[in-house]
Amino acid sequence: MASVVLNPIASKRGERAPFTILVVEDDPSDTELVLHALEQAELKAIEGEIELQVRSTAEGALKLLRERSVDLVLTDMMLPGMDGLDLVSKIQEIERDLPVLVMTRVSSVQTAVDAMRRGAYDYVLKPLNATDLGMRLHKAIRISEILRRHASLERIVHQGLQHDSLIGSSAKFQGVLRQIREAAQVRSTVLITGETGTGKGLIARAIHEQSHEREKPFQVIDCTTFPEGMVESELFGHVRGAFTGAIADKPGLIELANGGTVFLDEIGDLPLPLQAKLLRVLEENEVRPVGGTRSKRVDMRFIAATNQNLEEKVKNGSFRKDLYYRLAVVSIPVPPLRERVEDVPAIARHLLEQLGREMGKRQCYLDPSATAELTAYSWPGNVRELRNVVERAVMLATSDVITKAEIRALLSTARQDDSDGALASYAGLPYMEAKEKALEDFTGAYLKAKLAMYEGHITKAAEASGIPRQHFSLLMKRYLDREEQENS
Ligand SMILES: Nc1ncnc2c1ncn2[C@@H]1O[C@H](COP(=O)(O)OP(=O)(O)OP(=O)(O)O)[C@@H](O)[C@H]1O
Ligand SMILES: [Mg+2]
Repeated sequence: MASVVLNPIASKRGERAPFTILVVEDDPSDTELVLHALEQAELKAIEGEIELQVRSTAEGALKLLRERSVDLVLTDMMLPGMDGLDLVSKIQEIERDLPVLVMTRVSSVQTAVDAMRRGAYDYVLKPLNATDLGMRLHKAIRISEILRRHASLERIVHQGLQHDSLIGSSAKFQGVLRQIREAAQVRSTVLITGETGTGKGLIARAIHEQSHEREKPFQVIDCTTFPEGMVESELFGHVRGAFTGAIADKPGLIELANGGTVFLDEIGDLPLPLQAKLLRVLEENEVRPVGGTRSKRVDMRFIAATNQNLEEKVKNGSFRKDLYYRLAVVSIPVPPLRERVEDVPAIARHLLEQLGREMGKRQCYLDPSATAELTAYSWPGNVRELRNVVERAVMLATSDVITKAEIRALLSTARQDDSDGALASYAGLPYMEAKEKALEDFTGAYLKAKLAMYEGHITKAAEASGIPRQHFSLLMKRYLDREEQENS
């Protein structure tokens, strides 16, 4: 094992890491020749430092590749243990865009051809000739530089398009954001729970994007949408001939996420027999393809989400207890929007901007009274429902400013159901009594909403209501106690 730095003075690469060439060669005299040829080759295509890493086995090379990034690989084909051909295939799995040059004797040029079929970029014949090696290295370096630039551009484009940022400054949502950051730092399994539309999908993706594995795949598996009977093969893959129609080996979604994240959405819907199989994957880090006799090692992080009450499902036997505990190593409960109404204005503004842009509309604004209208609503469908309302508002908007009336019209269908029920109960009472009851109902709801807005902080809620604190407390005692008595 060795590492050498060439051109240490040149520093045009600035902040960039040195251009790293990994040489895999077990014969010390051949290694000597390669290093000599590299020095002679005047690698002008590279600005700045070149770092050489030498490994004498394929296993050692793979270990290095998993630990750090390399720009070019130069490998012998005859290696102790795993041979050069398998190494080329493995490198393809780890980093598809990494150029690999293979070195082989004239007598076994067929292996070079096989290696190129498996994805090697070029080959060099042994005994090594410095000029030939230099020329081929130059070409490979150019390709590597282009691919590197391409990857960083792709990252920038990807980040630029990533408009699905998580918005929310309420204490509750800040807590969720902190949990996301913490979860991103570790590889533990995460369970995200919360009502429909609270942003569980977005949160799962955010954990992946903030993790060290952000460049690796994020594989979404929606446990509800698999055709009956196909779930197992989709998850774990199958071998050729496992069932009619299995004409070739096919890797499962879990295997395809190798190194990255598997997001198991709607995990509550996973049938019991598959829960057992999934548990085995989680415990042993292995998948066994349908019809296969051998297991394959896999390495990834699992994030699961559900809007169902898994503890309840464990109690009634429809969800495995052991799987539940295995999933909930880190647990992130996402509060419903009505418990963090302070977030509504900022989310609405963000969605307004995003949707306006997508629909190619001029930037719209919410009138303050329209915002108040949105904040007062209970959002049973959470952020998804808010998104739908904002989307329709943008679509229907006749001017730059969206008014309270427009929002009210959009919310009225949802509201109607509430008020219909309430009206029926008032209609049974004489007018004066009904009016009093309506006022009481309103006061209770108002106090509750205000308290929710300020996280139960009475002084702040009272101040924001324009009611002296003591009076506010009295109202709470009267109206909220009453409600609790009614509820119990
Ligand atoms: N905090 C947030 N900031 C901005 N947008 C959000 C936020 N939370 C959710 N959204 C948006 O709300 C919509 C619903 O989110 P998502 O699909 O992640 O919810 P979910 O919890 O997975 O719902 P379900 O249980 O129905 O699958 C998406 O369009 C998402 O972009
Ligand atoms: Mg979802």
